[in-house]
Amino acid sequence: MPSELSPIDKAKFVAARRATKFVETGMKVGLGTGSTAAWLVRCLGELVREDGLRIKGVPTSTRTAQLARDVGIEVISLDEAKWLDVTIDGADEYDADLNLIKGGGGALLQEKIVATASDQMVVIADISKRVETLGAFPLPVEVIPFGWKTTQTLIEELLVGMDVLGATSALRMNGDVPYVTDEGNHILDLHLNRIGNARQLSLVMNQIPGVVENGLFIDICDAVVIGYGDGRVEVQDINKGTTEESRYDFLESANLFADLTD
Ligand code: 5RP
Repeated sequence: MPSELSPIDKAKFVAARRATKFVETGMKVGLGTGSTAAWLVRCLGELVREDGLRIKGVPTSTRTAQLARDVGIEVISLDEAKWLDVTIDGADEYDADLNLIKGGGGALLQEKIVATASDQMVVIADISKRVETLGAFPLPVEVIPFGWKTTQTLIEELLVGMDVLGATSALRMNGDVPYVTDEGNHILDLHLNRIGNARQLSLVMNQIPGVVENGLFIDICDAVVIGYGDGRVEVQDINKGTTEESRYDFLESANLFADLTD
């Protein structure tokens, strides 16, 4: 139960719990991927089962789809939904402008498509994800398997002319074999340390043949919900220019999520 969680999991839980306030009955909701997004799916599932919330969820990965069904959320495809009211997802890094690095969980392609097809994207995170400048977290780039080494070479050549502090990359592995995304692609993780111009890098990266999409989310996120291990939550809205604070009392829901795993 939440009161027995580590501070980091408490932070993720309170961020997810607060983010459910962005969701109303009748909405079509993009469901993110990762450990923080898993909290969100559980929280929404509880509202569906116990409070009569009626939503349709569009998951951003097969594992989120499975979890959403398991907790009682109706799952539809993006093509069925066409457009979403809100997407709520985690992030690997976010900066002061709410630009993001995503894809640590390997779902960046579906995540970017779903977030872009939403009226609003809300990121849920613990405070460790906030950075001055993006790039300490390796930037995931989804590439097609055909000729991936050539694509890697082209990416590394491109990086020489970019405002970054590193230019090495590694094929993401799953044990002894390359990691395969839900779309059947591979991921190159770029070790850049610091990305001076994330907007430019995102645009030029996607011009390379073989690159499907990169994990920079520029001007996509509207609000970030930041959780802390002591139950504090901040909601920063980039459009309104506001930051709201609240606090979650863990004793309120001591019976929730005892079996949470991701
Ligand atoms: C998956 C993602 C995740 O949102 C990101 O990796 C954060 O995950 P977590 O909440 O587990 O820290 O982009 O592709």
